[in-house]
Amino acid sequence: QTIYLRDYTPFGFEVEEVALTFRLSPTATRVLSQIRFRPRLDGDGRFFLHGEDMTLISAAIDGTPVTPRMVDGGLEADVPTEPFLWESEVEISPATNTALEGLYMSPLARDGAAPDPGAMYCTQCEAEGFRKITYYPDRPDVMSVFTVRIEGDMPVLLSNGNPVEQGDGYAVWHDPWPKPAYLFALVAGDLRAHSGSLTTMSGKSVDLNIWVRPGPDEDKCAFGMEALKRSMKWDEEIYGREYDLDVFNIVAVDDFNMGAMENKGLNIFNSSCVLASPETSTDANFERIEAIIAHEYFHNWTGNRITCRDWFQLCLKEGLTVFRDSQFTADLRSAPVKRITDVIDLRARQFREDNGPLAHPVRPDSFVEINNFYTATVYEKGAELIRMLKTLVGDEAYAKALDLYFMRHDGDAATIEDWLRVFEDVTGRDLTQFKRWYEQAGTPRLEVTDEFNDGTYTLHFKQQTPPTPGQETKDPRVIPIAVGLLNPNGDEIVPTRILEMTEAEQSFSFDGLASRPVASILRDFSAPVILHRETDNAERAFLLAHDTDPFNKWEAGRALAKDVLCRMVSQGAAPDQAYLDAALAVLRDDGLDPAFRALALALPSQEDIGQTLHDAGIVPDPMAIYDARETLAQSFAEQAADTLPRIYAGMAVDGPYRPDAEDAGKRDLGNTALRLLSRLDGGKTATTQYANADNMTQQLGALGALLSIEKGEDQLAAFEAQWDQDRLVMDKWFGMQVAHAHSARAAEIADALTRHPAFEYRNPNRFRATLGALAGNTAGFHAPGGRGYRLLADWLIKLDPLNPQTTARMTTPFETWRRYDADRQALIKAELERIRATPNLSRDVTEMVSRILGG
Ligand code: ARG
Ligand code: ZN
Repeated sequence: QTIYLRDYTPFGFEVEEVALTFRLSPTATRVLSQIRFRPRLDGDGRFFLHGEDMTLISAAIDGTPVTPRMVDGGLEADVPTEPFLWESEVEISPATNTALEGLYMSPLARDGAAPDPGAMYCTQCEAEGFRKITYYPDRPDVMSVFTVRIEGDMPVLLSNGNPVEQGDGYAVWHDPWPKPAYLFALVAGDLRAHSGSLTTMSGKSVDLNIWVRPGPDEDKCAFGMEALKRSMKWDEEIYGREYDLDVFNIVAVDDFNMGAMENKGLNIFNSSCVLASPETSTDANFERIEAIIAHEYFHNWTGNRITCRDWFQLCLKEGLTVFRDSQFTADLRSAPVKRITDVIDLRARQFREDNGPLAHPVRPDSFVEINNFYTATVYEKGAELIRMLKTLVGDEAYAKALDLYFMRHDGDAATIEDWLRVFEDVTGRDLTQFKRWYEQAGTPRLEVTDEFNDGTYTLHFKQQTPPTPGQETKDPRVIPIAVGLLNPNGDEIVPTRILEMTEAEQSFSFDGLASRPVASILRDFSAPVILHRETDNAERAFLLAHDTDPFNKWEAGRALAKDVLCRMVSQGAAPDQAYLDAALAVLRDDGLDPAFRALALALPSQEDIGQTLHDAGIVPDPMAIYDARETLAQSFAEQAADTLPRIYAGMAVDGPYRPDAEDAGKRDLGNTALRLLSRLDGGKTATTQYANADNMTQQLGALGALLSIEKGEDQLAAFEAQWDQDRLVMDKWFGMQVAHAHSARAAEIADALTRHPAFEYRNPNRFRATLGALAGNTAGFHAPGGRGYRLLADWLIKLDPLNPQTTARMTTPFETWRRYDADRQALIKAELERIRATPNLSRDVTEMVSRILGG
């Protein structure tokens, strides 16, 4: 049952208000609903309510009992043509809900066991989980005001909005802001708050709480609380957005399919995305936690006050909110480092998706299961489109357009058309061509050549987007290309300007130049395209040394490394001395930010090299790619032997641990130097660092360095003994040994770990830590024989009946299968077909596997 964007029709009724009562019980929770419906004049009168996985106890209309018709996915009833009160009572079983959608309990009971006495009730309703809680029009364009009464014997009972009444064994909440059902939330449990407060720009005081279970988690909330306050202030200062309730609650939950959820006034977080301490969290964890807290908070305006008309418009809230959280991180930390890491991530996940069988437009036009479209394309490419729009219209017009968007659409369930119209109205620009970015899938290839005549320098661009499933031909897009020019001495002679490409082929000239310049093209990665440029490594080395645009400076080094590695893989070339010299110069340049140096020295990932080779028509051999990276890193370590100890020592951070960008950058470069040193000293320095580490960044950095040279057995055992009571740290323990395993042993190690007593496959974090790490170890996953493929498929088949959503997400390691040689293709195809043939396979996984197989 495919759903199409073009079939959108509004619901035939307004929902004037909703009152819910929950009588909590692990396997027999009762939900009573009272919903006031008003028929719409333009509606067809058909009254359908979604509902799944529950037992209807009773229903009534205006107080008279009715017997609804049970239909696929819900119920229908004959209803008055005037406003009426719908009442129902249903029974649901949160303790046996392992899908983690709707109302469930965490931690999950182990197979066959009774629920943990400390388990909490919690909800996840986006996208379509509310229909597992009660019968309701579960669609984002139906918005209403909710009052919720929770009855249960747990000390903390939370829902959306403001607290109205608390008593022995019950609490009442009222949310004055109309919202769609996907933003509903309920939490109940024995929880402790880490509290704070904030005065908003108009002088209102807001109570802030981060709720966790009693115990060690209570000491891991301080950073999240500060991050929340920074987010609230930033949104006031930069976007003029103020918080609109008396309280803001965050709850940490161990079993969660995604990162976090922006439920109105009651954000629910995967505990890995909110809990932090120096001993248990890495610098990267701190940065990610800060960004996710900001992301969910920013949704209060971009998502909640203005929501989506239907799920095809998901990028309306997600692309914009990802863009906003990236601006926040860039402002608080280092803008160049944030941009570079975002582009690394975009290429690793979104380009991979956009150039394979799962490619889909940022705004898809059809889907079977919407949960399968919470993708890198919707989120990350969606954010890139907003960045481009801002580049095209300029900062001032962007700010005006956003003000208009908030003013015009507050309280609306909006569309991409509404969004673009705001920009058109503010700027007078026609965005018809820009809209193609939302409608056409695939990554544009941008080819550039140049020429120089009589003081005039000309860049010739050609754009072309390869076909994607269901879209054979593509129209030219508008591409903002940021360009600057340097003279041969390395001075910038033309500062960044935006070339606006709209045609399939287009040229741009710069005149009055004394000599042939060196062009720095696509500065700050001004568009999500693959740039093909006729150039040589001397020019790349020149830009690495001289470019004033930090992103392109990094990009030049990256292009150089990629070129060297691709030639090593495909032609058996030796490590290139020009590259090694350039990398050495970066390592030694103390004038450069350490975080930048670490990024510039990191080699392109195996996945990145695989994509590049595939794009050039070469079948990537994962083993050869792995070997080439090892060889190049080893050569670099040897040539840097004199410098590495100085860099390593120089990156030591004094004083108490601070997770800020500056200290994190030093630890990052320190760990980079440590990994290289370990290739030379047999792990001596890493062993010392491990023994002395007083924070997780250095402990894990040392462990990773040791595992990468096939050492670290003792440290692994010590780590487990030290941390076996901390599930988030144990996720790292599971992940590290698979991620850093030699390719020949990765699948075997992962397999053994799935038999470890602490492997709880129904916990999404643990499942991803182990099997996700295997998929991320490219050479290990693709090692000859297909053991990695079989292991992943076995576990997907096992998890699907319990948790289709996480299972479906974890099928994506197979999406690149057509890139590889015939043997690997046959092995992967067999596994995909085995999964597809599994009886009662979920709709989620059926859709994913069919799309990956192609048709
Ligand atoms: N809206 C959440 C976020 O991006 C993601 C929730 C997605 N949940 C899901 N079941 N697909 O912040
Ligand atoms: Zn989001």
